Amino acid sequence: MFEAMIDDLKRKTKEYCGTWGYAHCQRVKRHILELGASKQYNEELLEIALWLHDWGAYPTFLEQGRDHVEKSLEVAAAYLGERALNQGLSQSQIKHILECIEVHHSGSEVNSIEAILLGDADRLDMLGIVGVMRDFSRNPKEMRTAYETAMNRAKTYPSEMILKSARGLAEQRSAEMLRLLKAFEEQCENIF
Ligand SMILES: [Fe+2]
Ligand SMILES: [Fe+2]
Repeated sequence: MFEAMIDDLKRKTKEYCGTWGYAHCQRVKRHILELGASKQYNEELLEIALWLHDWGAYPTFLEQGRDHVEKSLEVAAAYLGERALNQGLSQSQIKHILECIEVHHSGSEVNSIEAILLGDADRLDMLGIVGVMRDFSRNPKEMRTAYETAMNRAKTYPSEMILKSARGLAEQRSAEMLRLLKAFEEQCENIF
């Protein structure tokens, strides 16, 4: 039903968020498919939220000192509002999409299944080897900061997962991170 909008969102995510943000969304989508395999959820509304969820974190929209979730919400509301009539998107569908974006870093069991899937899938992309690589590339020449950020994620994210299946995957990814970070620390003799 919303295929044209989803195609537009993919194109715009590539344009606004570059390879970094586009590839992140592609990986998050794979996690959503895996976590949602045995669940009933609205795939299209979730996919719309997925492509929009971090737009506020990238240069086109980024506002220094403003939380990226708040900015993404504002940008998403404008994007969806402009297209609602043409695309047949109802106000309750827009509300649902915005809820997914709003709680993607702070959801709980009370949120919709779509919001829960997006949050858990998003966190999974910050765990495992990919999580460590992300932290090291986000902190160039600041290995101690990157190491501490990755270590902190490895220790805290599994318990923040809402779905049981996500927690299981997060625990595996966390163990991978701890092994990698320990090997790194030993090889450097903690000089980094
Ligand atoms: Fe985010
Ligand atoms: Fe994200």
